Amino acid sequence: MTQPPVPQSGRGCVPCRLAAIGAVVLALAGGFAYTAGWLTPARLSASRFIDTFETVAGRPHPGYRRNHAKGLCVEGYFDSNGNGAALSRAAVFTPGRTPVTGRFAVPGGNPFAPDISSPVRSLALEFQLANGEQWRTGMNSTPVFAVHTPAQFYQQLLAARPDPATGKADPAKLKAFYAANPETVPFQNWVKAHPPSSSLANAAYYGINAFRFTDGSNTTRAVRWAMVPETRYAPITDAQKAAKNFLQADLDERLGKGPLRWHLILTVAQPGDPTDDATLQWPDDRQQVDAGTLVLERASSQEDGACRDINFDPTILPAGIASSDDPLLAARSAAYALSYQRRTREETLHPAVHQTQTHGDRS
Ligand code: HEM
Repeated sequence: MTQPPVPQSGRGCVPCRLAAIGAVVLALAGGFAYTAGWLTPARLSASRFIDTFETVAGRPHPGYRRNHAKGLCVEGYFDSNGNGAALSRAAVFTPGRTPVTGRFAVPGGNPFAPDISSPVRSLALEFQLANGEQWRTGMNSTPVFAVHTPAQFYQQLLAARPDPATGKADPAKLKAFYAANPETVPFQNWVKAHPPSSSLANAAYYGINAFRFTDGSNTTRAVRWAMVPETRYAPITDAQKAAKNFLQADLDERLGKGPLRWHLILTVAQPGDPTDDATLQWPDDRQQVDAGTLVLERASSQEDGACRDINFDPTILPAGIASSDDPLLAARSAAYALSYQRRTREETLHPAVHQTQTHGDRS
């Protein structure tokens, strides 16, 4: 009987197999190089953003966030009144309490900058839902953002780089950036008309970007949210302008007297309202829903508090809330991830990284 031929493919031709392995290695290396931006230096990658934040801050501050670097941790809970369930089936909107870890901060890459280095304050929150999901958000104290696209934000950062001769940003470059980008006008006008608050407790914080809320019957609507304080707004005082760290001292004093409260206000878009442009507010007459109360009870340092190791990526959302077509959201997600990666790596390699800098920068 004739024996069937022995298949050769198992042994194969050795050079061919080596070539195939080489091709896989090259493809992987190419993928890494592309992701790192080495093959496409003109592409707006997360590393170009983060490198530029470090340059604008004067230098990297190891162990700290590369933007909104100055901040502190807070903890408390969100008390849902059930009204938000009409817009989203997210479990955070069923009546009851959801624990929250948060972080107040000031924009900019220097964790030791004076509080008045920016007219903006921020509040980032992580809601820990009972079903294991999370809702993370980063909000600023302005209802609009300065720019429409990530590319414009990058250009704004470049314009803010310190001049090597003076160590400070060149006002002419920033002026030229604003003149070339008229989308920045609503933000500039809002900031001019609203002096910074005297406290972190009496500012409203806005999610700014639009999101998509889906309710229990699968109806989806565009929504923006804001945390509106129960504490009455007051403008910053002259004495505060002269103090470097008044925001934290003020917050500690207020929390020493009792919890602080904000209302979560959901604003619903009408057809035609822009969902992809954070420089534009929606008209004032849009439906608003008060979904419940944020109660903050405790503050701690960002160097060892509960918010230290949280990346407040605004695209981490529970079922019932989804990202919109706003191009800033994906850019934020990528940049926050790299900032988180750098600072947590620095903390792991050099556990004393914060103490060293705190003493160095304050001396
Ligand atoms: C392309 C646009 C943007 C870029 C590249 C960017 C970049 C960053 C980076 C790198 C961080 C540090 C993140 C970390 O290490 O955890 C940060 C923090 C933050 N950003 Fe943005 N951002 C952008 C737009 C916005 C917008 C539109 C808002 C307001 C809605 C915002 C609000 C915040 C807040 C609140 C924080 C502080 C988060 C915290 O306290 O940990 N950002 N941003």
